[in-house]
Amino acid sequence: MKNVGIIAVGEYIPKKILTNKDLEKMVDTSDEWITTRTGIKERHLVEKEAASDLAVGAALDALKSSGLAAADLDLIIVATITPDMQFPSTACFVQAKIGAKKALCFDISAACAGFVYALATAQQFISSGVCKNALVVGSEVLSSITDWKDRNTCVLFGDGAGAAILSEVKSGGIMATYLGSNGEMTRLLNVPAGGSRMPASHETIDTRMHYIKMQGNELFKLAVTIMTEAAEEVLRRAGLKFSDVDLVIPHQANARIIMAVAKKLGLAEEKIYLNIEKFGNMSSASTATALCEAVKEGKVKKGDIILLDAFGAGLVWGASIIKW
Ligand code: COA
Repeated sequence: MKNVGIIAVGEYIPKKILTNKDLEKMVDTSDEWITTRTGIKERHLVEKEAASDLAVGAALDALKSSGLAAADLDLIIVATITPDMQFPSTACFVQAKIGAKKALCFDISAACAGFVYALATAQQFISSGVCKNALVVGSEVLSSITDWKDRNTCVLFGDGAGAAILSEVKSGGIMATYLGSNGEMTRLLNVPAGGSRMPASHETIDTRMHYIKMQGNELFKLAVTIMTEAAEEVLRRAGLKFSDVDLVIPHQANARIIMAVAKKLGLAEEKIYLNIEKFGNMSSASTATALCEAVKEGKVKKGDIILLDAFGAGLVWGASIIKW
């Protein structure tokens, strides 16, 4: 099996910003409540763009620093729960827009763990020799499924995309992955209508069934437990200790969840990368853009051990150890 690593990262964040103060004018909330309960100060929202448009921005940013051309890609995986359309895959739209003619393309639906799932999938294709160069993108337009009248959820989400290019590397790369799911908990976070269970109708629109429904409190506790266990398990698989980890890049759902996980694991705050303040929860795009920003800010150096740790609707979770 070949060693597979991330050779470049990229991101694309839409320009429009919605602050907590803006939200105060839309629902019964306050900047103080949102900041103290979640750590979020603002989020970016699309104006007209779809998930593939954001994904293309992130892909081109990653390609620029990879030294590869789009024509060199033979695999494109887009992790998204807000695809442009039910079908075809958002990855196919991305392929056409960037001109990656020889790539095979598909989407992955693993909610907030989507980017980690997609990295692990691309790794399999490359390590087995089926593909050489893969583009993995986490791209979300969560504003399209957010109920802007529901203060329990609308303060949490944002739009954006992050990308990674994966290829064979001589040493290091993805050292271990731990993915898991618990399908008993689908009720905790979902969009009820628009699929085959409840196709779109006047009634589903009138009852706001095309928007995110979430049991935040229950999810909070599960997120802390599962992200802690996922981090421990992936380290065990990599044969490493927490003291070996240089930077943890967690899914950015809530700063309090992240700090509770760090406390349980005995990790110092400076080892945790946080950017939720600027972006809110962007589902699959959160871990992807956090990784990209950490790299661009010089917080990830060659040889560093990086721990990605994500959790989301399904439930699903995924953790990876990457030697940079
Ligand atoms: N502004 C003001 N008050 C709000 C509010 C808002 N935006 N949203 C909820 N509240 C109120 C609730 O109505 C409730 O009021 P009540 O006590 O009068 O009933 C009170 O605040 C506490 O609500 P609760 O849901 O217990 O708050 P919380 O501390 O659990 O925080 C979340 C809510 C959503 C921020 C938190 O539960 C969370 O982050 N959950 C996990 C999210 C997650 O992981 N998502 C998916 C994985 S990607």
